[in-house]
Amino acid sequence: MKRQIKSVFNKKNKKKIICLTSYSYNFTKIIDDFVDVILVGDSMGMVLYGMDNTREINDEIMIRHASAVKKASKKSLVFFDLPYSKKFSEENIIKRTIKIFNQTKCDGVKIEGNLELADVIKYLKKINIPVMAHVGLQPQKFSSSSKFKIYGRKEGDLKNILNDCIALEKAGAISLLLEGMLTKIAKQITITSKIPTIGIGASEYCDGQILVSEDMLGMFTEYHPKFVKKYASLSSNIQNAIKRYSEEVNSHKFPNKKFRYD
Ligand code: KIV
Repeated sequence: MKRQIKSVFNKKNKKKIICLTSYSYNFTKIIDDFVDVILVGDSMGMVLYGMDNTREINDEIMIRHASAVKKASKKSLVFFDLPYSKKFSEENIIKRTIKIFNQTKCDGVKIEGNLELADVIKYLKKINIPVMAHVGLQPQKFSSSSKFKIYGRKEGDLKNILNDCIALEKAGAISLLLEGMLTKIAKQITITSKIPTIGIGASEYCDGQILVSEDMLGMFTEYHPKFVKKYASLSSNIQNAIKRYSEEVNSHKFPNKKFRYD
């Protein structure tokens, strides 16, 4: 049965919210039964397209991938990442979000930003577009993943982010995605907020967790953040399978009678 926005985001203080990324139709089919929310993240820039950052993913690319993911998902909610834009403009964010939301038929959007998003979220809520606000480490602010900085080490960070989160919740955000921050900050935001927090590199105290699927499956090995637990080593599994295939083709073991049309 298709998950509903309310039942997923009402899990706070009851059950964890399970989230993962997907960028494609087939991969979505594989994970759909096991997660609450699938995020079509702009991390696809690095994982799928080999870009140095997430900034080069544009609206057209997002529409293509989010449509494929949405088409494949029968159970999970699908959220898309609003791609980077150079200059902040409420009007521009709203216009682009509505366009991607309508074209992909996704269930909601994740937007990176702080206090400045409050009015945008208020407007999108009014027209029934659920927004997950992405605070803490915001990859779109960095030109390369090697420059990512954990949030929370500066004086005033806790107070600032709490103020932002309170404003974003008040504006109508459906949840807060907390990325790359000190545990005490993630814990405090989670305690203070009535809406659920979804963590990535933000400790076990969050109401839900998300990882980039390729990271936790051991398929994307260029980037090794401390917070990623590897649940599989698919890169080596795939390499072993390809090696066997190559050996069997070379040795005329494959294809054989069993795999031909007579
Ligand atoms: O783009 C993405 O995949 C994300 C997750 C890391 C949360 O924003």
